[in-house]
Amino acid sequence: MTIQWFPGHMAKARRQITEKLKFIDVVIELVDARLPASSRNPMIDEIVAHKPRLIVLNKADMADEAMTRKWIQHFEQLGYKAISINAQAGQGMKEIAAAAKELVKEKFDKLAAKGVNPRAVRALIVGIPNVGKSTLINKLAKKNIAKTGDRPGVTTAQQWIKVGKELELLDTPGVLWPKFEDQLVGQRLAATGAIKDAILNLQDVAVYALRFLSEYYPEQLKERFNLSDIPEDIVELFDAIGKRRGCLMGGGMIDYDKTAELVLRELRAGKIGRFTFEKPEQKEE
Ligand code: G4P
Repeated sequence: MTIQWFPGHMAKARRQITEKLKFIDVVIELVDARLPASSRNPMIDEIVAHKPRLIVLNKADMADEAMTRKWIQHFEQLGYKAISINAQAGQGMKEIAAAAKELVKEKFDKLAAKGVNPRAVRALIVGIPNVGKSTLINKLAKKNIAKTGDRPGVTTAQQWIKVGKELELLDTPGVLWPKFEDQLVGQRLAATGAIKDAILNLQDVAVYALRFLSEYYPEQLKERFNLSDIPEDIVELFDAIGKRRGCLMGGGMIDYDKTAELVLRELRAGKIGRFTFEKPEQKEE
């Protein structure tokens, strides 16, 4: 799925989320743990300002664990509740419900004091494309289907997905646009596969990724491509990888497009190991 984010579409996306905010208690903002700043919507604070927010760092299985911990700390210092999950494997699902409950505790306690019976916390998942919103909803929903048993039609017609007794999710997530006007953000998003279209030149994205890995994760890079050391010159690095993997053109020349494609494919599949592109303190870079 590729969304072309023209101003009209952005306005519509924003309007749709604003509409849904009326029905919910908590916003679950899903971000990619490998790029927790670049995978956020630039206007998120403005759009969902009045709702308690849980920031969920997804794809934690592909991110640098120490960095994920730093990011969680960072978001918590900013006053948000934050957790990391692996939606694909269904890890962290219980924590989502628990965190959402904690966010509304005060409000619900007040209601309870007035004699209003406690109800499930209602939440909306929002995030940029490809961050794992559908995967997460499906994981949470499946548990529900297992619980409610064989009632086809009922679940599909429902607007709310019950997650246990304590959480209800709107069944369609809020899809927001990324900060694609920033070149570095664009390269990071493209490197992880969040931007699927060839908006950016593939070789440029691979150059960015290889420079980054050379600096921050050199051992993983060496191991994956069987390099004894990493050439400083980026063309030499492309040559070394292309040669080892047989990305060649006629006459034995290195095919740089093929090499770039291979590097990105392996990076996105997690074959070059775990990595996180940005540190909390580099956020405004
Ligand atoms: P979206 O609704 O936000 O657009 O994202 P979606 O759920 O479609 O997920 C985008 C991709 O991210 C999918 O991969 C999905 O499997 C993968 N994904 C989601 N959560 C996680 C996670 O926690 N860890 C990892 N490693 N991957 C995750 P895909 O390549 O588009 O499809 P497929 O490989 O699942 O077939």
